[in-house]
Amino acid sequence: MINEYKKNIESKLEEYFDERLKNPEYKYFYNVIKSMKYTTCLGGKRLRAILCLEACRIFSDNYSAAIPTACAIEMLHAQSLIHDDLPCMDNDDLRRGKPSNHKVYGEAIATLAGDALISFGSQIIVEKTPNNIDAQNILKVLYEYSIAAGAFGIVGGQTADIEAENSDKKISLEHLQVIHFYKTGALFKYSLVAGAILGGADEKQINIMKQFGDKFGLAFQIKDDILDVTSTTEIMGKTVGKDENSHKSTYVTIFGLEEAKRKLKDAIRGCYGILEDNDIKSDVLKEIIGLLE
Ligand code: IPE
Ligand code: IPE
Ligand code: MG
Ligand code: MG
Ligand code: MG
Repeated sequence: MINEYKKNIESKLEEYFDERLKNPEYKYFYNVIKSMKYTTCLGGKRLRAILCLEACRIFSDNYSAAIPTACAIEMLHAQSLIHDDLPCMDNDDLRRGKPSNHKVYGEAIATLAGDALISFGSQIIVEKTPNNIDAQNILKVLYEYSIAAGAFGIVGGQTADIEAENSDKKISLEHLQVIHFYKTGALFKYSLVAGAILGGADEKQINIMKQFGDKFGLAFQIKDDILDVTSTTEIMGKTVGKDENSHKSTYVTIFGLEEAKRKLKDAIRGCYGILEDNDIKSDVLKEIIGLLE
């Protein structure tokens, strides 16, 4: 199932960009479209898009309604990576095993491509979501998208992350949790909530997906923090060992590796617990939680 989801997402992403790259009207700014496509179509695990499709399938037994939104999520995610890698942010030259966007297109185009990916995502949701989906639900999906993308989502989290880097004091646990909740949790939560809305879930079911998304996002970022010290640049496709060097506040730099691993275990247990307590049957969600173990 995961492979089927991935294939669908990747072929649709190519299609959405190529439709525009074929249009001669855009020829004087093809470069920004190419830059948008470069990072979005470079690969990556596609976890957020997979979670979105699976959340839709859980509540409707079908996932096709969520494909455009899952693609929009990958665009928003790619934007967050492009901007995260810029010299003014984490200054990373390698992403998904290839030179970072600004290394290929320059900082100006990379900045513009990131901006444009956010709005292209919402454009795709409106343009491509099937007609049989209730307009009220599409509006909800767009509303939640704008929250996840902005100051009350990823941007807020990235700001709290940068503020922590610039602080010479050790940050509080509360500040660290805020960083993880917003910079990473917001998009995971959105992926599950949007999928559930498009699958026709009710408020109670959407809330369960919210809870799961928050817990999964936390676990995911703790794992990313751990991999920054335990994995290799070749495996990760991005430069490891940078968090400590650049005075990042992570679960590892604040608590040490062993305690971070314990906290990851707790979060993973919490993820399984939410599925069990609410009788959510999904091998895909279980498999994805398993990737963090
Ligand atoms: C990287 O996310 C950014 C973080 C939130 C740590 P992923 O590890 O999901 O990146 P890709 O999509 O697989 O490249
Ligand atoms: C990622 O945090 C958060 C984003 C919104 C991109 P990191 O800075 O730890 O992500 P990587 O390790 O560069 O992928
Ligand atoms: Mg960062
Ligand atoms: Mg980074
Ligand atoms: Mg990281």
